Amino acid sequence: MNSDADAASASPSSDSPGTDVSTDDVSPPSGDLVVVANRLPVHRSCLASPWETSPGGLVSALMPILREHHGVWIGWAGSLEAASEPFSHEGLFNVPVPISPEEVENYYEGFSNSSLWPLYHDACQTPHYHRHWWNPYVQVNRRFAEKTAERAAPHARVLVQDYHLQLVPGMLRELRPDLRIGFFLHIPFPPVELFAQLPWRQQILEGLLGADVVGFQTRAGAQNFIRLVNRYTSHRGVGQAIMVGQRHVQAREFPISIDVERFEALARDPAIRDRAQEIRAELGEHRTILLGVDRLDYTKGIDLRLRAVDELLGSGRHSVNDLVLVQVSVPSRESVDEYVEVRSRVEKLVGQINGEHGEVGQVPVHYLRRNLPIEELVANYMAADVMLVTPFRDGMNLVAKEYIACRLDDTGVLVLSEFTGAARELDRAVLVNPHDIDGMAQAIDRAIAMSKTEQARRVRSMRQKIRRRTVFDWANDFLGAVDSASSFSMAAGGVTRESS
Ligand code: G6P
Repeated sequence: MNSDADAASASPSSDSPGTDVSTDDVSPPSGDLVVVANRLPVHRSCLASPWETSPGGLVSALMPILREHHGVWIGWAGSLEAASEPFSHEGLFNVPVPISPEEVENYYEGFSNSSLWPLYHDACQTPHYHRHWWNPYVQVNRRFAEKTAERAAPHARVLVQDYHLQLVPGMLRELRPDLRIGFFLHIPFPPVELFAQLPWRQQILEGLLGADVVGFQTRAGAQNFIRLVNRYTSHRGVGQAIMVGQRHVQAREFPISIDVERFEALARDPAIRDRAQEIRAELGEHRTILLGVDRLDYTKGIDLRLRAVDELLGSGRHSVNDLVLVQVSVPSRESVDEYVEVRSRVEKLVGQINGEHGEVGQVPVHYLRRNLPIEELVANYMAADVMLVTPFRDGMNLVAKEYIACRLDDTGVLVLSEFTGAARELDRAVLVNPHDIDGMAQAIDRAIAMSKTEQARRVRSMRQKIRRRTVFDWANDFLGAVDSASSFSMAAGGVTRESS
């Protein structure tokens, strides 16, 4: 789901949980390819349990390339206790960056998730700006940059991920001018009028300009960035190129995707097919099954989606006898107030709808607040007649792509917010404005009534598109752009020009 749906694998950890230096590989002193992200690609449920590879398309896309190139991943282990020393896991060298509880509050919950996250998602919740959040953001970014500078081999390629680390490219460029640096933003990059609110807008832009390639999910994101650079910095961008001193920075879109073959294989698995049948039978063969799968986040529009379903049930055109919604909501960022609020809004609505339209033994909304294992997720995708993906704003939205990849029999309808990055590619979905409750109710009604022939035409066309560009193509394109980026680097004895 958003990358939140993927398999996990385990490997043994050492007998010392606090300083876990596992032994499944000889630790490389430095990496030719370094990924820097807020989170490490591994997690464990408690200190005594072994590390597991985290779910997510990004991790599965980068893992093969990292293994091939003596990869190093630099990131936060999720808590100070989880890991302090570098360790190897399944052929990848992990370097934990310590973040204190106070920094978690100010850098992660504060500046990253209460200033940048809402601002970059079209300010669909009011962003809060505090100087006591900004300084820890700078401090933690510096720590990531320093760890990376220590670990990267000469002339290594470094791929910095997402909004938590926008200052890292600039800091790293100063520490290690020999490196080739790519930055990829997984979330939207906002228009000029919104970004301009940020008291530290210039620092963020300069930070990003430390990279050779700044990647976005959509062309609109890249264009917003170039406009902002032209307005708020002394550098000039033309087309996709920005001149920063003698360096050429490329800003363009690299739309991320999923491991299509993996989802197709899961959708062919007999056990998962049986489970999909079972879900259908449990919910009622004669009912239309609607499905929503999201992190429990206010950007996802879960509350207005529920209100649209409520409208449909109240309209007399549908009832609990012919319609059911399964809403899977994955708990997320539960220490941030706005996430506590959206949870209570959603749960109140579920209760109201079930109270008003339910019968004994039959409810219109099944609400699951948990992360589903990937097999169960795919079974749900296969059981659902209509998939509802209605965020107010989303960088890409991989759930939409996962649903289409799993519809091997060319049935099903995707109702998709026009404000997702995925809507650019998945243009045969039923596109909706997630703020328009009537419009969404009508779109869901249309989806329910859509003929099998029309469903097949649309699903087939969308499946072809996502099969043409998988997450592995994304990783290769992005890495290829970083590889071929020309940069001037200060080497011993002068300035050398590198390009490949
Ligand atoms: C989004 C972000 C990711 C983030 C994920 C989960 O997809 O783009 O960078 O890792 O949400 O959020 P969390 O705050 O739990 O890392």
